Amino acid sequence: MDNKRFYITTPIYYPSGKLHIGHAYCTVATDAMARYKRLCGYDVMFLTGTDEHGQKIEDKAKEAGVTPQQFVDDIVTAPGGVLDLWKLMNIRYDRFIRTTDGYHVAAIQKIFRKMYDNGDIYKGTYKGKYCKPCESFWTESQLVDGKCPDCGREVVDAEEEAYFFRLSKYADRVQDLLENTDFLEPRSRVHEMVNNFIKPGLEDLCVSRTSFTWGVPVDFDPGHVVYVWIDALFNYMTALGYMNDEHHDLEKFWPADVHFVGKEIVRFHSIIWPAMLMSMDLPLPRKVYGHGWLNFNGDKMSKSKGNVVDPYLLSERYGVDALRFFVLRTFPFGSDGNFTNELLIQTINVDLANDLGNLVSRTTAMAEKYFGGRLPKERQRTDLDQELGGMTVSLRDRYEEQMERFQFQNALEEIFKVIQRANKYIDENAPWALAKDMEANGARLATVLYNLLETVRICTVLLTPFMPESCGKIFAQIGADESARTWDSAWHFGILPEDVEVHKGENLFPRIDMAKELEELDRIQEEAKKAALPAIEIEPQTGEKVDFDTFCKSDFRAVKVKDCQRVKKSDKLLKFTLDDGTGTDRQILSGIARWYAPEDLIGKTLVAIVNLPPRKMMGHESQGMLISAVHTEKGEEALNLLMVDEKIPAGAKLC
Ligand code: MSP
Repeated sequence: MDNKRFYITTPIYYPSGKLHIGHAYCTVATDAMARYKRLCGYDVMFLTGTDEHGQKIEDKAKEAGVTPQQFVDDIVTAPGGVLDLWKLMNIRYDRFIRTTDGYHVAAIQKIFRKMYDNGDIYKGTYKGKYCKPCESFWTESQLVDGKCPDCGREVVDAEEEAYFFRLSKYADRVQDLLENTDFLEPRSRVHEMVNNFIKPGLEDLCVSRTSFTWGVPVDFDPGHVVYVWIDALFNYMTALGYMNDEHHDLEKFWPADVHFVGKEIVRFHSIIWPAMLMSMDLPLPRKVYGHGWLNFNGDKMSKSKGNVVDPYLLSERYGVDALRFFVLRTFPFGSDGNFTNELLIQTINVDLANDLGNLVSRTTAMAEKYFGGRLPKERQRTDLDQELGGMTVSLRDRYEEQMERFQFQNALEEIFKVIQRANKYIDENAPWALAKDMEANGARLATVLYNLLETVRICTVLLTPFMPESCGKIFAQIGADESARTWDSAWHFGILPEDVEVHKGENLFPRIDMAKELEELDRIQEEAKKAALPAIEIEPQTGEKVDFDTFCKSDFRAVKVKDCQRVKKSDKLLKFTLDDGTGTDRQILSGIARWYAPEDLIGKTLVAIVNLPPRKMMGHESQGMLISAVHTEKGEEALNLLMVDEKIPAGAKLC
C-alpha cells in the first residue's frame, strides 16, 4: 500500500437550489485538508460532485417546466451554480462526479444486480403514507400533523412493490465497527448511531421506487428506479473506476482515507455505507468524520426564512480567503457553529487585519524603510530571539497534530499564538529605536527583521491550505521563493537568504468599520428576506356566505375624480372631491397615498360605496369608501384603486 496517497471526499450535493455557506463549509474544510496533504507530499484525490436523482428534482423540474436533466444541468453548470461556487471559493478538487454521468449510472445498475444476485437485495412491499396529489410516499415521522409535509393534504396508507437491502443482516458487524474501531468520529456520534439506530433494531432498507422515474433504472425490472442511497453512496467508488472504464484509480485510492459529511447524513455513511460494502465484499473507508452545522444567528439556515448566508456576497465584500479562514478558524469542526455577521467582521479585524496583516505590513515596511528592501548580511543575536525562534520552529509539529485530527480551529490557534508572539517581539525590540543609530545597531536591526520574516514565512506555509491566494501574496512580499514555501522548509528557521529582498505590497486584510458594516449587512439581509417571500399573495376567500338582500343594501356607484389632494400630516391619506351624479360634490378620504400621486387621479372614474355612515379621518369627513383591489407583494400590502371605463357616467349604480 502506498501510504503517501490520500483520498478525501465531500458529500455530493443536491442541485435543487442555490448552495449557501453551510454547504460551502464542508467543501472548504475538505479543500484545506486536501491542500494540507498535498503540502505534506501526498498524492491526493479530492472528490466532490452532485447527487442529481430523486423525486425532489423531478418535482422541481416539472414546476420549472423543464426536463429533470435540464434542471440539474442548469444548477450545476450555469453562472452562480455549483461549479461556479467552487471556483469562486478556490476549491481545488481533483474530480467532480455527477450521478447522472453515464458511467456512474451503468455502474450502479451493475452494483444493484450484484447485490440482488448475492441475495442481499430482495423484492418486497413498501408500506407508507401516500399523498395522492403529490404522488409521494412519506414515513409516519415525516408527516406534519398527520398530513403531507409538502401540500398539507390528507395521506392514505398505501403499498408499492419495492426492492429492499438486507441491512438487518449487517447490524452486528456494523455495531462492532462503530464501537471497537475509530471508523466514525467524533466519538460522540458513535453513541448516537448505536443507541438511536442499531440497538432499537435495524430494519431492511427500501432501495427502489416505482412512484417516480427520475433515477437509475433497475435494468432487470422496468418501472423500478434505484432509490437514493445505493446511487449516492457508491459515487465514492464509481468516481475511481469501480464497475466502469471511465476512471482507473480504484487500486490506488480505495479505501478512502476520510469521508467528510454533515451530521444529518452520518447515519447513511456510518451504518448503510459500510453494510453495503460488506455485502459487496469491498474494503471499508478508513474514516467517516461527521462535522457540525453552521446556523445563522442561532437559527437553522433556510431559504424560506431568508437567512441563508450567501458566499458570493461575503466573498465580494471581504475576499474569499477571509471567508474560508473565518469558517475554519471560528468553529470547532465536529460541533455546530453559530455564524453571525459580527463574529465574521470581528475575526477579520482581530486575526487578519490586526495580527497577521499588521505583522506582515510592519515587517516589510521596516525592511524597506531602514534597508531599502534588502537586508544586510550582518547579524547580531540576543536572548530575545530564542523564544520566538523556538516557538516558530516547533509550530509545524503542533499544527500537524491538530490537522491530522481535523481540528482546523486548533491548528490555526497554534499559528496565531506565534503571530501574536511575533508582534510582541517587534515591541520588545523596538526597531524604530534601533534605527536611530544604524551604525551601532544596524546588524541587530537586520537580525530582528530577518527573524520576523522567517516567522512570517513559516506561519504562511502552514496557512496556505486555508488562504492559498493571500499566502501567495505574502510569500511574494517577503521574498520567499518556491523552496521557502515547502512543508520541509517550515521545519527550519533560516531558509530565506540572509540578504533577502522584500517588497511591501498591498494591504491584504483591510480593517472593517464594524458598526457601519453591520448596518449595511442588515439592510442587505432584509432585502434578501423580502426577495425570499412569495412574489404575490392573495387573501384566500372566506367562504362565509352573505344573503342577497344584505348584499343589495350596499350602494356601489361610479364616481369621477374632480379634485384630489394630500392630507396634511398624513403620509397615507388622499382627500377626493368626487362627482357622484347627484349634483353635490362628495368628499371621500382613502389611505392610498403610498401608491398614487394625487394629480394622476384627477379625471379618473372610480368605484365607491356611498351609503356607509360618514366618519372623520384626520379632521376631515369621509362620505363613503373607494374600492381598491388588495394583494401582498414580497410581504408588503399593495393597493390598486378600482378604475372603470370613462364612458360610465358619474353616479351609475353597480350591481
Ligand atoms: N445528497 C446528499 C449527500 C449524499 S452523499 C453520498 C445531501 N446533499 S445536500 O446538498 O443536502 O447536503 C450536502 C452537505 O451539506 C451535507 O453534508 C450537509 O450536512 C451539508 N450542509 C447543508 N447545510 C449545512 C449547514 N447549514 N451547515 C453545515 N453543513 C450543512 O445531503
